[in-house]
Amino acid sequence: MDTVTPTKLSPASGTYQPKGQLIGGKWIGSVSGKVITIENPGKKTSIAQVPHAGAADVELAVTAAEKAFPSWKNVVPRERGKLLLKIAEAMEARVEEMARTIAMETGNALRTQARGEAKLAADIFRYFGGLASELKGETVPLGESVLSYTRREPLGIVGAIIPWNAPVMLGALKIAPALCAGNVLVMKAAEDAPLAVLMMADITNEFVPPGVLNVITGYGEECGGALANHPKIRKLSFTGSTEVGKVIMRAAAERIVPVSLELGGKSPSIVYPDADEDWAVDGIINAMRFTRQSQSCTAGSRMFLHEDIFDSFLAKLEKKVTALKIGDPLDEASDIGSIINNKQYTKVCKYVQDGLDRSDARLVFGGLPPKTGPLSEGYFTMPTVFADRSNDWRLAREEIFGPVLVAIRWSDEAEAIRMANESHYGLAAYVWTHNIGKGLRAAHAIESGWVQVNQGGGQTPGMSYGGYKQSGLGREFSLEGMLDSFTQRKSVTVNLAV
Ligand code: NAI
Ligand code: MG
Repeated sequence: MDTVTPTKLSPASGTYQPKGQLIGGKWIGSVSGKVITIENPGKKTSIAQVPHAGAADVELAVTAAEKAFPSWKNVVPRERGKLLLKIAEAMEARVEEMARTIAMETGNALRTQARGEAKLAADIFRYFGGLASELKGETVPLGESVLSYTRREPLGIVGAIIPWNAPVMLGALKIAPALCAGNVLVMKAAEDAPLAVLMMADITNEFVPPGVLNVITGYGEECGGALANHPKIRKLSFTGSTEVGKVIMRAAAERIVPVSLELGGKSPSIVYPDADEDWAVDGIINAMRFTRQSQSCTAGSRMFLHEDIFDSFLAKLEKKVTALKIGDPLDEASDIGSIINNKQYTKVCKYVQDGLDRSDARLVFGGLPPKTGPLSEGYFTMPTVFADRSNDWRLAREEIFGPVLVAIRWSDEAEAIRMANESHYGLAAYVWTHNIGKGLRAAHAIESGWVQVNQGGGQTPGMSYGGYKQSGLGREFSLEGMLDSFTQRKSVTVNLAV
């Protein structure tokens, strides 16, 4: 929705109100003067307006970044690290405001999701702040009369594009390592959830020189496309759908710039017959990210359940999941909030309808959301499980990005692993069994960038994270991720015989 005249805005109390987009240390509107109106998906109300940026805004941001780069790259790494530690502290001091802002704009429940995300984002700054001195090179033994060493140098202006599902965490994962390594950044926030990201930029801007971090707000193709194709961008870092990831990689190919892609998933969970227990059911609920409406790239959305425990496990799952409270994301009592927007809501409902229409698929629980009552006032969907179909139907192959889980029966372990690997995605996977030997053999056989055994948790700083196959390219969240994704190695060779 575009408008130049402010619409009636009703933000929730204690949330961040944007001052524009951050370019060269200043808060400014878009060059066109147009704005994007941001919606609270839990209430379908307008909550804020942000600049509607296009190619001209990208140009301004790149120019500001270009100006900031020469001195930023020469700041002693540990001094850059100390600034990141200060940002972490300042973010922690405002965790509640940030969490409420995330909940209001994404629909993710405050207690179960948004608060944890705000804390994790601060922790990401702290983690990378402590790593600045690890931007080390090596010496290479080329003989007594040669000194050969390497340097880890920044790439220059990084162009980053982030999605809406965990915007602050995913934004922190670009800002902290990119800046720590001496790069400057132009980041495009997601058009559906830019507010908490702007708040994070606001805090960061208090500590770093103007132009080091620029955050712009615009739509995908128009603004993100201009950023991806800008000739001065020296590195692209993208998180979002596999479809757009391919567009970004094509743009990178034109200029031979390195690209990191964190894309979609259709992650398998393999439940062994000895795991028909409450802890495994809780783990499956966590892995499926039911309390984030399953809008997660790592959602364990294909559950391979051993035939001996198929019905009893599903009965336990139904009991626990249907006890979760769906409601206003800002209400402390809500376990589950709302889907991000009408488009994603409609998409999820279509998948559910597709499942209901198949006579060979059995609805275990859930279904279409109510059309009347409080849950119809936002984009609320119902956690839904379908059983009995094989691994080859649409609901078991495509990334739904909503709370629709498919349960598939298995009896032979090799067959379960084969089905788990039968996907063009390979982001995450989960294995559930008391038999650690079995669990680890399965973990090693699964084609995926991250396998968890007997837990369904989220990412932790320090652990390299990223996808196999079409789930992505490159790794984030770790020292190695920072070194590989945000530095380039230079060799210097000196003849000592002169
Ligand atoms: P998307 O991939 O279109 O959007 C992600 C980001 O890319 C946003 O900032 C958007 O503005 C930008 N973008 C979109 N088109 C672009 C283009 N042509 N050039 C440059 N930037 C562009 O994701 P969307 O439309 O929000 O969701 C669609 C589906 O994508 C979801 O249903 C889900 O399956 C998947 N998705 C996966 C995510 C993940 O973390 N793996 C995150 C978000 C979406
Ligand atoms: Mg899209």
